[in-house]
This record gives sequence, C-alpha cells and structure tokens, in this order.
Amino acid sequence: MPFSNHIVWISGASSGIGAALAIEFSRHGASVVLSARRTDMLEEVRQRCARPDDHMVLPLDAARSDTHPGAYEKILERYGRVDVFVANAGVDQRSRAANTPLSVERRIMEVNYFGAVSMTHCVLPDMLARDKGQIAVISSVMGYLSTPLHSSYAASKHALHGYFEGLRTELIRSGIDITMICPGYVRTDISVHALRRDGSEYGKMDSAHKSAMTAEVFAHRAVRAIRRRRSEVLIGGPEILTVFLKRFFPRIFRFLVPRLHHLVTNGNRSK
Ligand SMILES: NC(=O)c1ccc[n+]([C@@H]2O[C@H](COP(=O)([O-])OP(=O)(O)OC[C@H]3O[C@@H](n4cnc5c(N)ncnc54)[C@H](OP(=O)(O)O)[C@@H]3O)[C@@H](O)[C@H]2O)c1
Repeated sequence: MPFSNHIVWISGASSGIGAALAIEFSRHGASVVLSARRTDMLEEVRQRCARPDDHMVLPLDAARSDTHPGAYEKILERYGRVDVFVANAGVDQRSRAANTPLSVERRIMEVNYFGAVSMTHCVLPDMLARDKGQIAVISSVMGYLSTPLHSSYAASKHALHGYFEGLRTELIRSGIDITMICPGYVRTDISVHALRRDGSEYGKMDSAHKSAMTAEVFAHRAVRAIRRRRSEVLIGGPEILTVFLKRFFPRIFRFLVPRLHHLVTNGNRSK
C-alpha cells in the first residue's frame, strides 16, 4: 500500500475533508495523527479508520501556536517522525469587509494561515534533517480569487499560497515536497461554522455545498495528488473554472461574480 509505514499528521481531522482524508490515508496503510479541537469527534473518526489502534488522537487548537511544539513532541514520542503533514484546519467567513471587526479578521488568519505555518515550523526541521517529507496544504479556489462576504477568508488562503510557494523554492534541492490542494465546493459543514461579523457561526449549509462533491470523493482525489507529489491541484466541480476566468478574463470575472454570488449563498446578499 502506498502509504504503509507513513506517519500522516492531519489538522482539522474531526469533520469534513480532514476526517475523510484520515480515513482515506488509513485505507492506504498510513498511521494517522488526528488533530482538531473536538476530541469526541476525533475519536469517532479514529474508530472509522482502518486499523483504529494504529492512529492517534491529538487535540489541538490551530490558533494556539504556543501549544504546537508540545503536541508535536507527543507525535515524536509515539511514532518518531511525521512523513506527511496535511494543513487542513480552516474556518470560513460570512461577513462584509466593512462590517467585520479586526478581531474576527485576525481569528480567520490565526486559524487558516498562522495555524498552518506554525505546525509547519514543528515538522520542517526534522524533515530537513532527514531530507524527506511532504507538506500538503488544503487551500481553496479562494486562494486565487475572492467573492463577497469572504474577504478575510480569501486573504488567508492567498497568504498560504505566498508562503508555501516561497517555501517550495527554498526546498527545491531537498527531498521535501509541497502540495497545494485547492478545493472548489465540497459537501461539508464549512459554511455552517463560518464566522459572521460578531464572531458567531453562520449556522447554515449554503446551497452550493449541499449539491457539491462529497468529502470522500474529494479525499480520494486529494490523496492521489499527494501520492503523485503534485505541486498544485484544483479539485471540484465547474466552479473551479472561475480560477481560469479570473486569470485570463479578469474583467468578465469582476463583472459577473458580484452579480451572481448570491445564487450560491442561499440568496443572502448582505451581512
Ligand atoms: N468544503 C468546502 O467547500 C471547502 C472549499 C475550499 C476549501 N475548503 C477548506 O477545507 C478545509 C477543511 O474544511 P471542511 O470543508 O472540511 O470544513 P469543516 O467540516 O468545517 O472542517 C473544518 C475542520 O477544521 C477544524 N478547525 C476549525 N477551527 C480550528 C481550530 N481553531 N483549531 C483546530 N482545528 C480547527 C475543525 O475542527 P474543530 O472544530 O473540532 O476544531 C474541522 O475539523 C478548510 O481549510 C477549508 O477552508 C473547504
């Protein structure tokens, strides 16, 4: 099996894409370290993995970078190394930029961007010492463009591209690979947990997510991309074409997106 004897650390493994990735990696022979805040849900996911006893639940808050080195030490105690780190933990947004306080904007950056960077700082020195390893980053189509009610979320995903593209150039002569994975819509609770301007959860699943690809199908394709050590991959439905629309026809993109965006967010235009 392609990932047997591999230790895979996944942040945000308690639900959605992270949970599906944990199960998919376990099916390919990996021992998985499952991190997120909700320990009970991590435990449930561990039980759904192949060979549950091979895996480890490691509760962690992505926004608490001071706790990450201690968490990483626990992985080393049990497994001695991390072969693949998947930076997946993330929180979405449903608020207009003009209405969103800096505290909410910082929160989104702390979880989505600094969380990924901080955990990368944990695994990277040992990967460099072994000259071996892989970091997979779950970004988004929003790493290339932005839409109404998503300014800080899109900023956090753009920031991931800037950081990890730079890191990749530094690792060019090493045995460490960076894989940027950019989902379109995937049927998860991402919009349910999205932050509104007061920091509370949006609480609803957007219509676009209701009819999107399942997390299991996504995970199957994402793990294949990681196995092939792809640099960058877009995974989703027709919405991923917006990346090419933005790149090659930016004026059409900027005309259409503000007018059509409400169609995918349950008809909500302003927050
Ligand atoms: N679903 C989509 O359509 C879509 C599209 C593009 C990109 N993505 C990206 O995919 C990734 C996974 O999202 P999802 O769709 O699977 O949504 P999800 O079901 O809401 O999962 C989000 C995961 O992130 C974890 N998380 C959130 N805040 C955290 C924190 N402070 N510390 C640690 N973990 C935290 C959650 O765990 P706890 O709450 O237990 O901490 C959960 O496991 C995110 O980075 C998201 O931006 C998703």
